[in-house]
Amino acid sequence: MDKPDDVLLDIQHLHTAFRNGDDYFDAVNDVSLELHRNEVLAIVGESGCGKSTLATSIIGLHDPHNTRVTGTIQYNTYNLVGLNEKLYNQFRGKDIGMIFQDPLAALNPLMRIGDQIAETLVYHTDMTKEQRQQRVLELLDQVGIPEPAEWRGSTPTNYPVGCVNG
Ligand SMILES: Nc1ncnc2c1ncn2[C@@H]1O[C@H](COP(=O)(O)OP(=O)(O)OP(=O)(O)O)[C@@H](O)[C@H]1O
Ligand SMILES: [Mg+2]
Repeated sequence: MDKPDDVLLDIQHLHTAFRNGDDYFDAVNDVSLELHRNEVLAIVGESGCGKSTLATSIIGLHDPHNTRVTGTIQYNTYNLVGLNEKLYNQFRGKDIGMIFQDPLAALNPLMRIGDQIAETLVYHTDMTKEQRQQRVLELLDQVGIPEPAEWRGSTPTNYPVGCVNG
């Protein structure tokens, strides 16, 4: 039996609805789940059933003017639903992250790849610029990117030829 403090994420009656004209439609409809420390939880379902919308609701990435999120997403002591951005940013990208579908399209085409990877280090660590640049190289190398220094300085639109989807 798990102790109550083993629960890392506790979602109750989550509804995420997108505006459609004057109306809203529920992309996530009454989801409740608990994620425990050291647990891996897979959410499986047909295309369009709301998996990504559930994930982006947890990480708080919806446009508040066109999205209505109700229910609770309890993370540690915080209810993430309606949490102010300043508090969110303390752990978004540090404790809670998201790997987007189609990561190539998720990169900002105008920003160097190295700067995009380093962004989270700027916000969440005390590393110097040199340390961050070194860490970016290590990370690119770890995932098997050849010539990481060249990638680090490139934008997604001019990445070195022959390295895509490798
Ligand atoms: N920003 C948005 N605005 C309006 N509707 C959206 C938005 N994002 C997703 N939807 C709609 O919400 C529903 C759920 O989409 P979602 O992307 O969460 O599904 P999914 O389960 O992740 O699908 P897939 O397996 O294809 O990735 C779909 O009907 C989709 O068209
Ligand atoms: Mg998806």
